[in-house]
Amino acid sequence: MAKPLSFTCTECGAAHAKWSGRCEACGAWNSIIEEKPLSSGPGARGLGARRGHAVALEPLADETPPPPRTECGVAELDRVLGGGLVPASATLVGGDPGIGKSTILLQAAAAFARRGLSTVYVSGEEAAAQVRMRAQRLGLGQAQVALAAETNLRDILTTLDAERPDLVVVDSIQTMWLDNVESAPGSVAQVRAAAHELTNFAKRRGSAVILVGHVTKEGQIAGPRVVEHMVDTVLYFEGERGHPFRILRAVKNRFGPADEIGVFEMTGHGLSQVANPSALFLADRGEPAPGSAVFAGIEGTRPVLCEFQALVAPAPHGMPRRSVVGWDAGRLAMVLAVLESRCGIPFSGLDVYLNVAGGLRIGEPAADLAAAAALLSAREDAALPAETVVFGEVSLSGAVRPVSQTENRLKEALKLGFCKAIVPPGSNAPASGDMALMPTADLAGLAGGVFGAG
Ligand SMILES: Nc1ncnc2c1ncn2[C@@H]1O[C@H](COP(=O)(O)OP(=O)(O)O)[C@@H](O)[C@H]1O
Ligand SMILES: [Mg+2]
Ligand SMILES: [Zn+2]
Repeated sequence: MAKPLSFTCTECGAAHAKWSGRCEACGAWNSIIEEKPLSSGPGARGLGARRGHAVALEPLADETPPPPRTECGVAELDRVLGGGLVPASATLVGGDPGIGKSTILLQAAAAFARRGLSTVYVSGEEAAAQVRMRAQRLGLGQAQVALAAETNLRDILTTLDAERPDLVVVDSIQTMWLDNVESAPGSVAQVRAAAHELTNFAKRRGSAVILVGHVTKEGQIAGPRVVEHMVDTVLYFEGERGHPFRILRAVKNRFGPADEIGVFEMTGHGLSQVANPSALFLADRGEPAPGSAVFAGIEGTRPVLCEFQALVAPAPHGMPRRSVVGWDAGRLAMVLAVLESRCGIPFSGLDVYLNVAGGLRIGEPAADLAAAAALLSAREDAALPAETVVFGEVSLSGAVRPVSQTENRLKEALKLGFCKAIVPPGSNAPASGDMALMPTADLAGLAGGVFGAG
């Protein structure tokens, strides 16, 4: 008989037959713990001899209307959800401790309640008095939100079955525990079982359920990733400590587009919405300086401008540093390698720092050319032309490839006062507005044309 899989990764939930320092499934370090297999619940005893009921099959071709939605009243949150909360659905909101999950969800709960919808906020992290104090600090002291400070999920479910609220916020899923699951609160088994029960409750009663999940660094507490597959929508709250900006990003959405972002600013009165993120991400930019390039990006359905900043300095000894914040380290290595081997511009012996200003995290390949422009600008100690945006994907040959939504990118740039754009070949300027395009076929062309280098 095969050995039972009794070791579980608290990052991704993968089961392993033996302990190891690194999870083979997700690559996380120190995330594997020994855990008793679920002793209760479906599947524990096998199917046995009892036969199941016949399931009603329906034609694939049937029309299904789009899901009804209830706006929760926080516009940036509604946008990320794809137009509001869907009844009978479960949403996971993950993020680092202290990033603002409880704050935004208390604000959303209050806004929801203000629309006359019944709302329950279950806090397993804080006492009712603490949640009340937070509400008062946020100016929401009078909100018609029903509060429970409780971690026993059996009691919570009994309460919710009686109340049948439109919205339930459970803060956090890691604090909930079921008495029929043997492992400790916060373990993968408990967190999964709790998420399973709450998702079932949402489907059974038609409530929208929002689960808060703390991202854990390592150790005995399961991370939100272990329940991602059980919920309909997964949002992550991102941001840099010390920066006021917070990005709410949809990474999975069964009812709408994934990849949409909402932008917030943390203030003394909670999170306020940022209607024009481009203006915000470019706010601290002064005169054009070496090492700076403005990227015209697309986040979800909306164009967002942000600044790539590069710094290149002689590496005093040994391995030069490659440090990147807000962009992919592998992508940086690729762009540096292309600059070196296709354009003859070496970065060996130089420390390279690349930073996306404002705490935004960029995943689009269209940012390659902006990163390359910032790196070249830093390397040559020459600023890019003023009022210039950059976008384009770079291939391993050094060629600049076209990207999607050129017109939206350029229109946003025009709106913010930019009048030049370094773009892939074949791009068209928007019909209205005065935008001078600098089509760039490859990185050598960028180096030669803009910086006179290479
Ligand atoms: N009593 C308070 N006074 C001022 N700021 C606070 C207070 N409590 C929390 N904050 C701020 O709000 C931030 C977000 O907190 P919170 O919403 O509790 O985060 P999370 O639920 O993601 O752990 C904290 O990092 C802190 O900066
Ligand atoms: Mg919290
Ligand atoms: Zn793992």
